[in-house]
Amino acid sequence: MKIIAFESSCDETSAAVIVDSEVKSNIISSQYFHGEYGGVVPELASRAHLQAISRITERALEEAGLAPEETDAVAVSIEPGLVGSLIVGSNFAKGIALRYSKPIVPINHIEGHIYSAILENPGVKFPFLNLVVSGGHTSLFLVESFADKTIVGSTRDDAAGEAFDKTAKLLGLTYPGGPEIDKLARKGDRKKFDFPRSMINSGDYDFSFSGLKTAVRYFLHKNFRDGVPEATLPDLCASVQAAIVDVLIKKTFDAAKEFKVGFVAISGGVSANSELREKAKSRAGELGIEFVAPQMNYCADNAAMIGFLAEKKLLDGAEKSYDLTFAVDPSAIRAKRKK
Ligand code: KG4
Ligand code: ZN
Repeated sequence: MKIIAFESSCDETSAAVIVDSEVKSNIISSQYFHGEYGGVVPELASRAHLQAISRITERALEEAGLAPEETDAVAVSIEPGLVGSLIVGSNFAKGIALRYSKPIVPINHIEGHIYSAILENPGVKFPFLNLVVSGGHTSLFLVESFADKTIVGSTRDDAAGEAFDKTAKLLGLTYPGGPEIDKLARKGDRKKFDFPRSMINSGDYDFSFSGLKTAVRYFLHKNFRDGVPEATLPDLCASVQAAIVDVLIKKTFDAAKEFKVGFVAISGGVSANSELREKAKSRAGELGIEFVAPQMNYCADNAAMIGFLAEKKLLDGAEKSYDLTFAVDPSAIRAKRKK
């Protein structure tokens, strides 16, 4: 089956071609200019998607050596995300579907992340756990099949990526702050400063990261009112990162033990974090669990994961939509919470 897929939920414009579960192309254009504004500006994001999407699509088809009429279906992420950004991708995908008379499969972006764990690793067996950690989401999913997954825990306030970005801003680093903190933390001492690990012993799998930025703000006000000396930045970054990573690792692997899964995956932008990857790998090793960290092209926002899931849905007959009337939904997460 040949699928052309689109992703435009936030600040990445992506088009991909999937043929029989294999990624033939996965073109991603990231909107780096948001750094200037300290965060994603929704209106500018949707305009940039509009400018990029045709070119990205041509490149994806060209790299895959496929003409649009040769595809069997179109897939597109339609929720959750920035409404204007989602509209660009979904209308473009509808246009292609209409022009070439192809079925169209609307995909939930978070579900795309969840199953991206299998994209490069067909050996991953259900049930598995996936910690989806990005700038907008932090949830832990127990995944039992392509149709069944439940949320076992979620953030009650900020996403982990937001915690990285907001504390980085307080430290005077550029947006997005996660990669900056990661880089500086490599030269720092994670135990130098003690920041709160909120809810680490709450006995459930929920997270809370909003207290961390407040703690960092008070800490800076008390200790470095005139700015953080450059020499102190690595220790501060390492200590902030440790506070985030410790909670993510503890909850993820406590859940892995409780639900007796053989595989743990991480996905979303924050899964690029080097300490999170190292700690997850070593904790998984201690527990005899397989750890799956997809390469970055499939961790951050990408159309390949959207096309991959669409193919599964089409093959199992769950999705045979030729209907072009679906709408985007900025907030939908289609998974029930585990009781
Ligand atoms: O999945 P993503 O590309 O976009 C969405 O939010 O959906 O994730 C972006 C987030 C940002 O908050 C960014 O700071 C964070 O991922 N991030 C990182 C790293 N690389 C990206 N956070 C920590 N360490 C990194 N190396
Ligand atoms: Zn995402």
